[in-house]
Amino acid sequence: MDSLLTEIDHVAIAVNDLEAAIAWYRDVFAASVEHRESVESDGVAEALLRVSDSYIQLLTPTRADSPVAKYLEKFGEGLHHVGYRVADCAIALEAVKASGARVIDDLPRPGSRGTIVAFVHPKTSFGTLIELVEDPQNH
Ligand code: CO
Repeated sequence: MDSLLTEIDHVAIAVNDLEAAIAWYRDVFAASVEHRESVESDGVAEALLRVSDSYIQLLTPTRADSPVAKYLEKFGEGLHHVGYRVADCAIALEAVKASGARVIDDLPRPGSRGTIVAFVHPKTSFGTLIELVEDPQNH
C-alpha cells in the first residue's frame, strides 16, 4: 500500500507576536508571506511562508481561550504541529482511527485556504500533533 502521507503541507510554529515573526523570517531568510488568514473557530491567525511546495505556518492566538493560547502558556513558543498532505482526509482519518490511534477530530472539517483537515492527538503519535490536510488545489 502507498503511504497515506503524500507530502509535507506545512510545519506550524506557535508565536506570541505574528508581526515580529513575519519580520524575522523576512529579514533572516528573505521569506515572504504568501497567505494570511484568521480562523475564528480555532481562535488563531496564521501567515503562510512558502518553502518549495510546502509552507511554514506562523500561528498566533486571537483570543485567550484559543488552544494555541493554552499551548503558548504551557510550552512557550515553538513547533506546534506538522501538517501532512493526504489525498483524501476522510479516508486517511478512518485509517488512523482503525489503527487505534487517538484523534482530536472525529470527522474532517474545513481548514484554512479551502483545505479539509483533521487533527491526530499527540498522545499516540509520539508527542507530535499531526494535521491531515486535503488540499483540493494541491493534488
Ligand atoms: Co496546520
